[in-house]
Amino acid sequence: MNRIPHSRPTLGRAEANAVRRVLRSGMLVGGPEVCAFERAAARALGGGAAVAVNSGSAALHVALAALGIGAKDTVLLPSYVCAAVLNAVRYVGARVALCDIDPATFNVSTETVRRAWSGRVRAVIVPHMFGGAAPVREIASLGAPVIEDCAMAIGGRAANRPTGAHGRIAIGSFYVTKMLTTGQGGVAVTRDRILARRMSDLVQYDNREDYRVRYNYPLTALGAALGRVQLSRLGGFVRARRRIARAYDRAFAPLPLTRPVEQAGARHAYYRYVVRLGEPARRIGRRMMTRGVEAKPPVFRPLHRYLGLPSRSFPGTEEADRFALSIPCYPTLSNRAVSRVIRVLSEEL
Ligand SMILES: Cc1ncc(COP(=O)(O)O)c(C=O)c1O
Repeated sequence: MNRIPHSRPTLGRAEANAVRRVLRSGMLVGGPEVCAFERAAARALGGGAAVAVNSGSAALHVALAALGIGAKDTVLLPSYVCAAVLNAVRYVGARVALCDIDPATFNVSTETVRRAWSGRVRAVIVPHMFGGAAPVREIASLGAPVIEDCAMAIGGRAANRPTGAHGRIAIGSFYVTKMLTTGQGGVAVTRDRILARRMSDLVQYDNREDYRVRYNYPLTALGAALGRVQLSRLGGFVRARRRIARAYDRAFAPLPLTRPVEQAGARHAYYRYVVRLGEPARRIGRRMMTRGVEAKPPVFRPLHRYLGLPSRSFPGTEEADRFALSIPCYPTLSNRAVSRVIRVLSEEL
């Protein structure tokens, strides 16, 4: 019995040719490949100037550093997100304020953000969880700059615009499991010229007149060439994910679970298809795994647990952590595999 993995990149001949072209050129870092990738990535994230880096974590780090966030400042972020986001805040030495999420969307809401707000909040990181739109425009109106985290949502739309178009800075991740991949990679995009200049300054350390701490974060030309091809296929990737999501929606309508929601004015990218069950998700995930379908909770551990904060302050996050299950959803998933995922989950419920 073949195992159906939870995620898998979509790579083809065009990607192989692009990487081979860079190898033949001998120019493995910098140069026109990286510039072209930056232009394309900026377009995909709502426009502006982009700085290509070697991970989404690096993109978050330079975004916070460019905003001047430091030890006296507080950065607000949801508990229900991967530890990379918390790491970036710690890289700049800032304090962390965690907020809860709405378990119906897995995203922060204006209420959960307001509840965690204090006068010291100097930036808010708003991830569009699993490709679904967070209320980023409303949160931006609260006053602190928003870093729109599109690690899971490049190719989607929020409030009638591409994800990435609402934040002061948008970031993307191109890790191998993401919407598109450069192997390891990331990008930070902004329409603010000063921030763009600061971010690109922070990632170029060599041959500089002045000294300050800078970071060896640039994306390689190999990654950029791969990423350019992937970006040109992004529309098709999103359509394929949405087709699978529709098939799941139809099949799961009669089952005792809650399906993902698409907000008004949004286009869900379905980076993950995450259902909320009426019983512990880890148990069902383990049972599905024994039948060859990899399904799992989409966030390994909520951040408030790492930080030893009380669970009662994060009821939405706790609910998502207990009941949310992510099932395979990616462009190379065949119709047969989709049918098998549907059958296995239906039988296990
Ligand atoms: C929401 C979010 N932001 C940022 C990151 C960090 O990206 P990377 O793994 O490329 O460092 C991730 C990683 O999975 C993520 O899920």
